[in-house]
Amino acid sequence: MTPPHKRSGGKGGASKPRRTGKTKPSQPTRPPKRSPEEHVDVHVPDGIRLQKLLAAAGVGSRRKCEQLIADARVEVDGHLVTELGVRVSPTAVVHVDGERVQTDPERVYLAFNKPVGVVTTMSDDLGRPNIGDYVARRRERLFHVGRLDVDTEGLLLLTNDGELAHRLQHPAYGIRKTYVAQVDGPIPRDLGKRLKEGVELEDGLVTVDSFRLVDALPGKAIVEIVLHEGRKHIVRRLLEAVGHPVRALARTQVGPVRLGDTKPGKFRPLTSREITSLYAEAGL
Ligand code: URA
Repeated sequence: MTPPHKRSGGKGGASKPRRTGKTKPSQPTRPPKRSPEEHVDVHVPDGIRLQKLLAAAGVGSRRKCEQLIADARVEVDGHLVTELGVRVSPTAVVHVDGERVQTDPERVYLAFNKPVGVVTTMSDDLGRPNIGDYVARRRERLFHVGRLDVDTEGLLLLTNDGELAHRLQHPAYGIRKTYVAQVDGPIPRDLGKRLKEGVELEDGLVTVDSFRLVDALPGKAIVEIVLHEGRKHIVRRLLEAVGHPVRALARTQVGPVRLGDTKPGKFRPLTSREITSLYAEAGL
């Protein structure tokens, strides 16, 4: 989709009519001024003012959001809105410069640091510690985006946005994930090259996007791997296959979202910038 600000006829598109001699100047040919209510496609009389919705979504101050609207950079449900005062549904699909803005206050996006020993399910018939234990007091129905092994710690995204969760897990979108592993060492110089070229596992070839030796210690090493795979135990199987079994594993990043200093068992809300980037990666 072409971002509104890149389309022709936007900001500064109309040139002033030139006065010639003493003849009466012709009237400028401006499009007729429309009241906000005339944005019939998106205007909802008891909705929320668009600039307020944008500001609440973290796009910027009300003033800045008004300017974005006036500059023809805001689309609501696929319609360019340039008038101030338009009221829209709180669940409208809003894009700024072609990037989706998450405006629905009911939507929840969390970065959770799953501790070792916790199963990636929202409940567990066997009574094992699970993700549901950590979000039991929240009223939304959350989904976990993908899974981590019970022995793996680190970043797990939780959301009640089913469409985004579904897409982020789908191999077609190839979302990159970063893992830090403690493995048996030493690490040969050409290991990164080998992993990037691809390693054949029993369920097919796996290639990594990047590989980095973080630290070399006596008999062991810390390595960082980035890959866009969702297959079960993929990092453990891959490193085992090349002779470096994993002793500890943590996921530190999913797409644009970093774990940062969120401690095991804790979660934090994603920023509006992170949510916007996730939407872009998921093609929404
Ligand atoms: N790869 C693994 O081996 N385990 C995980 O938990 C995630 C990726």
